[in-house]
Amino acid sequence: MNKGKVDVLLGLQWGDEGKGKVVDVLTPDYDVVARFQGGPNAGHTLEFDGQKYVLRSIPSGIFQGGKVNIIGNGVVLAPDLFMNEAKELEKSGHPLKDRLLISKKAHLIMPTHRLLDAAQEALKGKNKVGTTGKGIGPTYTDKVSRNGLRVGDILEDFEEKYQAHKARHEQMLKALNYTGYDLAETEQKWMEGIDYLRQFSLVDSEHEVNRLIYEGKSILCEGAQGTMLDVDFGSYPYVTSSNTVCAGACIGLGIAPNKIGNVYGIMKAYCTRVGSGPFPTELFDETGDRIRNIGHEYGAVTGRERRCGWIDLVALRYAIMVNGVTQLIMMKSDVLDGFDTIKACVAYQQGGKKIDFFPYDIEENIEPVYEMLPGWQVDMTQMTCEDEFPEAFKNYISFLEEHLETPIKIVSIGPDRSQTIVRN
Ligand code: GDP
Ligand code: IMO
Ligand code: MG
Repeated sequence: MNKGKVDVLLGLQWGDEGKGKVVDVLTPDYDVVARFQGGPNAGHTLEFDGQKYVLRSIPSGIFQGGKVNIIGNGVVLAPDLFMNEAKELEKSGHPLKDRLLISKKAHLIMPTHRLLDAAQEALKGKNKVGTTGKGIGPTYTDKVSRNGLRVGDILEDFEEKYQAHKARHEQMLKALNYTGYDLAETEQKWMEGIDYLRQFSLVDSEHEVNRLIYEGKSILCEGAQGTMLDVDFGSYPYVTSSNTVCAGACIGLGIAPNKIGNVYGIMKAYCTRVGSGPFPTELFDETGDRIRNIGHEYGAVTGRERRCGWIDLVALRYAIMVNGVTQLIMMKSDVLDGFDTIKACVAYQQGGKKIDFFPYDIEENIEPVYEMLPGWQVDMTQMTCEDEFPEAFKNYISFLEEHLETPIKIVSIGPDRSQTIVRN
């Protein structure tokens, strides 16, 4: 890490790359961990000491004591889900109140936002995005259209503001022909969540973050989702509603662009996607099933099957470019242990032409062009340093580094905190 600079860690694919695990592993090197976008659509899994945790809105730096954790202004927060998550953590011996700051400018996900999410998906029919149903899109829409309700609003005349927003949403639901819902129970839990939220430090986090930078504290920004789900640069319209790219950390925390230091780009040794939308290297055969089974590729939040495929270097080069990635972290390498051949997509074939850049539209007639590499029939999960890696895996790393023109600094060989190899 560089003094006076803020490092950013983010996903380069369609999410679920393993960001939670790596943030937890890197946290000892930092004083502060901050989330800058997304909300409970995220599911960040961490494993250590035989325990498994899934975080949705709370930063993954929470388990390494003595660190400041921040939920930035760019995040959307559902008070009821936040309360469940925080109480579970407190129950398991990880108190939060003294180490978590929440931005007053973060927007609140209301129960009616979740209904609007469902209504809009229903309206799209077979073209639905396959959202997580957490109200992400409608909440960010309200924010951008200047209709949002923010965390800071709960400090004064909240009931009145809430009712006005709810009434507006109910009109929208009626216009969408979405009726017959019962809000009573969710609304009660949600209001409990609001009371619970009031027990936390609600702050102007941009001031806090910049003060910490000024004091020389080291900060790690934790991305949610992945670059291919970015609302501007992802596979639009099959994306989330926030900027998941590095620049999102500036907007979502109030950090000036010239303060960005290292950018850690996280990718799996293969590729997955959950929800609808194009995925050029998707496998529909038994190899895809095999990756799903070995990698336990089921959504951490929704339990949905993740679609699986080979690594896509065209999309990764694009992601590295728009994020300014300085170093790569490769996750789930162990999942490929035992495959005879590994494929890597090095270019696309589109309309009879070979292209090596990420085009405007990847929905229509894209065919991946693969290079084949020999696999390694070795269990890597217990390895402790890179010298132990089989030759074929070392070759795979070199091949990727060459094609991506970026060093792979960390390799993950299992879900546990300890199954992480830092390369020299
Ligand atoms: P995130 O959203 O980017 O934090 O990733 P998720 O938690 O949604 O999904 C990653 C999944 O892979 C989790 O179940 C992790 O426990 C698991 N995982 C992370 N790294 C590794 C690894 O190197 N090998 C294996 N086998 N599993 C891993
Ligand atoms: P983490 O942080 C994987 C996907 C959804 C859907 C699209 C839009 O765990 O990597 P949304 O609910 O955001 O409006 O859904 O984005 N999606 C994710 N996929 N990992 C995530 O988060 C995701 N968050 C959203 O499946 O296709
Ligand atoms: Mg996830």
